[in-house]
Amino acid sequence: MNEATALAHPNIALVKYWGKRAGKTNIPATPSLSITLDTLVTRTSVRESEQDQVEINGTVVSDKKIQDFLIQLRAAYSLPPLSIESFSNFPTSAGLASSASGFAGLLTAIDAAFRLEMSTSERSIWARRGSGSAARSIFGGFTSLEEENGDWCARNVLPMGAWPLKVVIAITSETAKNVGSTEGMERSKQTSPYYGAWTESTKSDHAAGLLAVSQQDFSRLASVAESSCLKMHALMLSSQPPLSYWNGATVETIAAVRELQGAGISVFFTIDAGPQVKTLCQEDATDIVVDRLASVPGVLRTLVCGLGPGAYVDQPR
Ligand code: DP6
Repeated sequence: MNEATALAHPNIALVKYWGKRAGKTNIPATPSLSITLDTLVTRTSVRESEQDQVEINGTVVSDKKIQDFLIQLRAAYSLPPLSIESFSNFPTSAGLASSASGFAGLLTAIDAAFRLEMSTSERSIWARRGSGSAARSIFGGFTSLEEENGDWCARNVLPMGAWPLKVVIAITSETAKNVGSTEGMERSKQTSPYYGAWTESTKSDHAAGLLAVSQQDFSRLASVAESSCLKMHALMLSSQPPLSYWNGATVETIAAVRELQGAGISVFFTIDAGPQVKTLCQEDATDIVVDRLASVPGVLRTLVCGLGPGAYVDQPR
């Protein structure tokens, strides 16, 4: 029987992707830069079956993104009906990048189960077709998603052990987001007067982010990442109807990060399409950051991660 299980970790963008070119293959409007996490993980198993069935965290679902993805994949490869089971050890659809680890793991498991013999770059391109940010979770450490040889593919820019930063996530809500990324991006593209400025400035942010990573320059990376995050949320808020993903605790957590920065702690924040605040800090500041964020009213809990590996096949023992 053809079957395989893959593990994939979510990634957090430091230079954000928000907007696509026309078409159905998730070609981003701009390059992006991210870190892949450890600790948080999605485990995806696929096996040949009588009909397609998708189970996420124990519940059978009808997922349009997965259906569309399988249609694209079957146009290129001969694949039987599939049973897909996926489990994440973190809240899904709440701005913690579950679609990134989900599609990176799904594609990696399908590639292994049916011996499609894809290269890592091909896996990244295919994962991107499922969800743009998933292209980056194929790789570990610091990862850039950019145009290469006429297609959009991620690449590793710094291995995971090279710069051992820590990520402290403040969870401020466990409920699923109301407008998904795909729909939200299209809305911003169609309606925000800031969209052109966003795509232009993101190109230079990406170049500045790559330089900061290559030089391991924390304060430069902090400034680029916070700026990219705040510009993306300004773009979201200026869309019609407005996209607003923050809650009160999100704002309070940003204030707490500003306070820590004022006290000389090396920490910065980033926020995606949800109310959680992700902070990056130097390893020796982790305990201080955790204590401060945990004391913010409305923060339900904190998660601590390091940098993790790209998606990989779970070898049967
Ligand atoms: C805010 O990759 O989820 O997390 O390509 O439509 O599936 P689709 O969108 P998705 O969007 C991620 C948006 C973001 C920023 C980022 O990860 O770069």
